[in-house]
Amino acid sequence: MPISRRIAAYQAGGSWIRKLFEEGARLANDGSGKPVYDFSIGNPDLEPPPEFKKALRTIVNDDTPGQHKYMANTGFEETRAAVAADLSKDHDLPFTPQNIVMTVGAGGAVNVTLKALIDPGEEVIVNAPYFVEYRFYIENHGATMVVAETKPDFNLDLDDIAAKITDRTRAVIITNPNNPTGVMYPQETLDGLGDLLREKSVGRDRPIFVIDDAPYRKLIYDSPKCTSSFNGYENTLVATSHSKDLGLPGERIGFLAVSPRIDGWERLTGATAFANRTLGFVNAPALMQRVVAQLQSVTIDLDWYRRKRDLLYNELTRMGYEVPFPGGAFYIFPKAPGGDDIAFIEKLKDNRVLVVPGTGFGRSGYFRISYCVTDDKIEGALPLFEAAIKNYS
Ligand SMILES: Cc1ncc(COP(=O)(O)O)c(C=O)c1O
Repeated sequence: MPISRRIAAYQAGGSWIRKLFEEGARLANDGSGKPVYDFSIGNPDLEPPPEFKKALRTIVNDDTPGQHKYMANTGFEETRAAVAADLSKDHDLPFTPQNIVMTVGAGGAVNVTLKALIDPGEEVIVNAPYFVEYRFYIENHGATMVVAETKPDFNLDLDDIAAKITDRTRAVIITNPNNPTGVMYPQETLDGLGDLLREKSVGRDRPIFVIDDAPYRKLIYDSPKCTSSFNGYENTLVATSHSKDLGLPGERIGFLAVSPRIDGWERLTGATAFANRTLGFVNAPALMQRVVAQLQSVTIDLDWYRRKRDLLYNELTRMGYEVPFPGGAFYIFPKAPGGDDIAFIEKLKDNRVLVVPGTGFGRSGYFRISYCVTDDKIEGALPLFEAAIKNYS
């Protein structure tokens, strides 16, 4: 076998999202001409805001030499200053460019953070249901993923997190707002998590960190902004990107923000810059750094998503689905009628509706609808969701 046994085992495990994505492509080309309702993947079906193209054109037409060279591993100072200013306003904390490392997406930011924090053999807690890549990210750095369960409304269960902390625990990853549930954690929960980790860090040579993986932080529909993990706990790093809030997932532009309240944050930022270099990213894409420096106060059209969230939430609950209320992101995570999520998604698939079973996120009995699709897809699928729940009742 030409590849590592570990990768072979990972690949044999497969990914539900990937499988469904491939199934969607197969159905779309099966010659039947019938529509496919594909809600499996979080790939925004919305073009970036007009400000993006405008900034891009200006930058492309700028002939100042040296724009495409290597820069500091942390990224351009001008971009980090723009990010720091936006974060300072949002969290009322003194972020400076030195607190920011530009990264290759949020995925790059999480990996850079884990590499900077972890020694092999340590543990990282995630909260189920969780973004499926976390296990691979954590194991990339020789650590073990430990799963804490969440409450029935998918809020963090601080008692379960407490029960999962050992003397090897190095960090807790949260995703606020969440993929796959769309739930935004209340500020009291984030404050409570801070209290818990502060208490559990006493007597250790290094504190337990919060890594808030927050690529959906600006996709919030019922309040002006997302609750703040930085305000909940001093030892927090936020890994994020413009994949979702500017609709640029293919451009791979994100950043890591290191809280100025961390004791020794300068050392930590230096370690993440080292990790950016030695993981082979070196720096985030130069052109995109210049573009997003101009777009820190711009977000895709939130109404486009809010309308779909409302339509799906109202219609699914009317049909009898149990749906935890999603305050953000572009996911909704209903309970699978009958309790068997895999059987249920197979039934939907027979009707050309593709959704991801909760099992794929470490929480069976639910399924995820990704609603970053056009309205006609949702409207076309609603009668099929209704028929599916009737068949199961
Ligand atoms: C929770 C979460 N983290 C990270 C990522 C990866 O984001 P990026 O494309 O910016 O690397 C995603 C993408 O779907 C996500 O949902």
